[in-house]
Amino acid sequence: MKNHLIDLNDFSKSHWDEIIALGEKIMDNPHIYEGSCRGSIMGTLFYEPSTRTQMSFQSAMLRLGGGIIGFDNPTASSIVKGESLKDTVKIVSGYSDIMVMRHPVAGSVKAAAMSADCPIINAGDGGHLHPTQTLTDMLTLRKEKGRLNNLKIGICGDLKYGRTVHSLVKALSCYENNSFVFISTDELQMPSYITAPLANHRKSDSLDEVIGELDVLYMTRIQRERFPSEAEYEKQSSRYILDMEKLDKGRSDLIVLHPLPRLNEIAVEVDDDPRALYFKQANYGMYVRMALILIILNYDIEPPVLIKGRVYEGVKCENEKCILQTEPHLKHSFIENSDKTLTCEYCEARK
Ligand code: NCD
Repeated sequence: MKNHLIDLNDFSKSHWDEIIALGEKIMDNPHIYEGSCRGSIMGTLFYEPSTRTQMSFQSAMLRLGGGIIGFDNPTASSIVKGESLKDTVKIVSGYSDIMVMRHPVAGSVKAAAMSADCPIINAGDGGHLHPTQTLTDMLTLRKEKGRLNNLKIGICGDLKYGRTVHSLVKALSCYENNSFVFISTDELQMPSYITAPLANHRKSDSLDEVIGELDVLYMTRIQRERFPSEAEYEKQSSRYILDMEKLDKGRSDLIVLHPLPRLNEIAVEVDDDPRALYFKQANYGMYVRMALILIILNYDIEPPVLIKGRVYEGVKCENEKCILQTEPHLKHSFIENSDKTLTCEYCEARK
């Protein structure tokens, strides 16, 4: 069974709850799970830089007794010789029992899944999604707030290119009575494929004004590498900085999360405040990834349907950051929304 994890929303909430609950159990009794993946191999294909995601996956697999192969520097693989994503994935999936892939292009992991001979996990596809960061965030919320519902969540920074917050909002909006405050400049607002299906959200351009209302403040880095030019990045950097003066306006039960790496958007002085949980959050990520690997390798779950929509005569995805622009063998297939607009199956851009 190829239980790929491309987008959490391909699975039911009960499956997310199962992964998170297993992550908690592993955290409480890690020795019970030692060796439970002995003999299995995880292939890690990192086409983009990574510290936490890559190492927490590797550490998770090693703790479960499995082995790891892979690259984190594609220039040291046959990719420099011009090998396509399709061919690389076909080959590495033959050497692996499970694969983890990060790539700079939206929809690339779904495209990879279509030629993979083993399950593949999306560790970040361009500025699109990052589902295992969201599992990390959900385990953190469960441990630190005791719930995944009835939360007012402020998300601040780069909401346009930040893939972690796209996956986070898609998942948390499925729990009862959660509401969102999107704190950003006009240029870096959430894409419409995230906001269109949402019931309960509002925008703000001021962290000061809203911080006092929040249960959770999720800070993000401005994603320099995804901007069209350095000048445009410069205009956006350093616009939102959480320091002690601002945090003091937050409630005592507020928690501050960040997927990391952090640049200057959280002042170092905040690290010592008990509400700052981002380092703990990164640690939870390893346990939830252990749970995910165990479930994918051992449980019999209905695999996701990769292509749900269809090709529309003459309609092409025009998002220049979509995998459809670089892998010509893929069909431009779309899902029709209730308002008759179309959503690209790979990058979710709407037209
Ligand atoms: C994030 C990512 O790669 O999207 N990092 C991570 O996986 N924890 C966030 C970021 O790079 O800003």
